Amino acid sequence: MSKRYTVTAALIYANGPIHIGHLAGCYVPADIYVRYLRAKGAEVAFVSGTDEHGVPITIRAKKEGLTPQAVVDKYYTQIKQSFADFGISFDVYSRTSLPVHHETSQAFFKTIYDKDGFVEETSEQYYDEVAQQFLADRYIIGTCPVCANPNAYGDQCERCGTALSPLELKEPHSTLSGSKPVLKSTKNWYLPLDRMQPEIDKYVGSHTEWKTNVFGQCQSWLKEGLRPRAMTRDLDWGIKVPLPDTDGKVLYVWFEAPIGYISATKDWLIQKNGTDAGWETWWKDQDTELVHFIGKDNIVFHCIIFPATLMAEGSYILPSNVPANEFMNLEGDKISTSRNWAVWLHEYLEELPGKQDVLRYVLTANAPETKDSEFTWKDFQTRNNSELVAIYGNFVNRAVVLTHKYCDGKVPARGELTEFDQETLASLADFPAKIAEAVENYRFREGLALLMDLARLGNKYLAETQPWQVIKTDAERVNTIMNIALQIAANLSIVSEPFLPFTAEKLQQQLGLNANDKGVWQSAGRADLLPDGAVIGEAFLLFEKIEDSVIEKQIQKLHDAKKMNELATKSVPALKPTVQFDDFSKLDLRIGTILEAEKVPKSDKLLKFLVDDGFEKRTILSGIAKHFTPEEMIGRQVTFIANLAPRKIMGQESNGMILMAEDRDGSLSLLQPHKEVWAGASIS
Ligand code: 2FM
Ligand code: ZN
Repeated sequence: MSKRYTVTAALIYANGPIHIGHLAGCYVPADIYVRYLRAKGAEVAFVSGTDEHGVPITIRAKKEGLTPQAVVDKYYTQIKQSFADFGISFDVYSRTSLPVHHETSQAFFKTIYDKDGFVEETSEQYYDEVAQQFLADRYIIGTCPVCANPNAYGDQCERCGTALSPLELKEPHSTLSGSKPVLKSTKNWYLPLDRMQPEIDKYVGSHTEWKTNVFGQCQSWLKEGLRPRAMTRDLDWGIKVPLPDTDGKVLYVWFEAPIGYISATKDWLIQKNGTDAGWETWWKDQDTELVHFIGKDNIVFHCIIFPATLMAEGSYILPSNVPANEFMNLEGDKISTSRNWAVWLHEYLEELPGKQDVLRYVLTANAPETKDSEFTWKDFQTRNNSELVAIYGNFVNRAVVLTHKYCDGKVPARGELTEFDQETLASLADFPAKIAEAVENYRFREGLALLMDLARLGNKYLAETQPWQVIKTDAERVNTIMNIALQIAANLSIVSEPFLPFTAEKLQQQLGLNANDKGVWQSAGRADLLPDGAVIGEAFLLFEKIEDSVIEKQIQKLHDAKKMNELATKSVPALKPTVQFDDFSKLDLRIGTILEAEKVPKSDKLLKFLVDDGFEKRTILSGIAKHFTPEEMIGRQVTFIANLAPRKIMGQESNGMILMAEDRDGSLSLLQPHKEVWAGASIS
């Protein structure tokens, strides 16, 4: 293993909050990996931040009626806080709107430009004549030429992952105005990926150790043949192209965003040391390993396009691994920000306080490492109650409580070891290396399962040695048993730290163990982590049972959100055919005051009203009993049709019709005058 790592986690667009799909796909595995590396004693820069340019930002700004700057400020602050509260241990959480990033990405572009690394080309690009702007990336939607997805974006099809350019889309249309775009000539700078393909083939081909989902995707793109890709855009939100006469042109967001990892590293050093001196060590030293954690939709950009820009610049190391995950679904459906089908991190932290590790555990146990996976609240509850509480928490609690009960709250010295003790300690010694092997190869699910096996080893040890029986006859033997149980717990705390950092800290607090040192992993597996006589802290529960009501509330919340979203997208009823004014004026619309109201016997829909219409009192029947009680209708003024021919409903005559507005969710609203008027007032 190398000694120095630059580990990046995707710079998410600052256009919405973080959800569990982001966590499972990228941030939790990245954090486990980094925490493990630190525990192993490696030097690590863990960098991330928000991607604050590109069309996703301007689209969001339009939707929220804010400026792009206000949008990125809002989400940067929220996302940064959520990650901090969730315990993602970034060394820096930066943002691409910082001057250091503008300077770094412009200088990067200029270096490639000066080396003739771009191809300058004037070509016809799609232009929206209504919105008066070129249609880059997500401003244009059409049918994917590869998988026929009708909603492919101008830069990528999210269904099949193919990197596209707008001209490749079939049936393109503008997402700004919906109009069919026209072609208009413009100049841009292209990275000649076609020319660079042999070098890229060689690079990707040398990484057969990459995860099969990542390596396979790369190979299939390379087989298709790479095409030149524009690294500039005709947009007004972004980083200005650092060349003369390029007003209205910015750097392509997928050119500058990955450079954001470099700027973030500089930002980190500036925050820490007041200067970015030494940043090259993390990006140019051949002894540094560069590892990118991302979700599968970002594979092409990190495995092909970003390495190609690094090659074109010439002085950087290339990513040594890109352990991308697949997607996590939620309760049987794809997670979707626009459909509000998600568990949002900031809401989770608020509604289930102190349960960061439960979520980390569930997301890791179900991580979409090789294929898409699923999060359900029921599984969340089961994994908490039957695994964290019943296995991990139970073992630790018994070890600590029994030590207080039988050993005066101090680590007792071991006596002679039985064969079973020796087997247990040998098994304990094997765990750290097995977990390390899994983590180093990005198999975090396996690492977590092994960690739980260690807790099981502890439970099995106590169950078989039965100190609560032995104490009756052999206190010396109990000392040995409790020492071994406590050494298992101490080891558990060390190997848990990358996966369950909050729990590891609490456990170490109970055991009086100080295991925060860099390189502490080297001591894992040993049976003398806790010295004889060391004082054990008070026992407290590491995990609490989660009741059905908590889970039901979350499930209900999801369904409510989905319903609201469906309602929000429900369109108003189609207009009826036009009527002439003469037809309309035949209707006599009036305001009446309800004097009496009662239910119609044997009907659950009908209410019967006695209405003062200014001349007399008339009876009107209305099918609104499911929406209003008779009591709440009495005294109200309503709008009614006064000259509708009498109709018999359930044997009773109705003389008119009360008008209602039907809301999106099907609820009814009375049409009342905004101030009380005299009964019989006519409406015209
Ligand atoms: O998918 C996204 O949210 C992108 N903003 C990820 C960029 S990662 C890196 F390249 F900056
Ligand atoms: Zn496609």
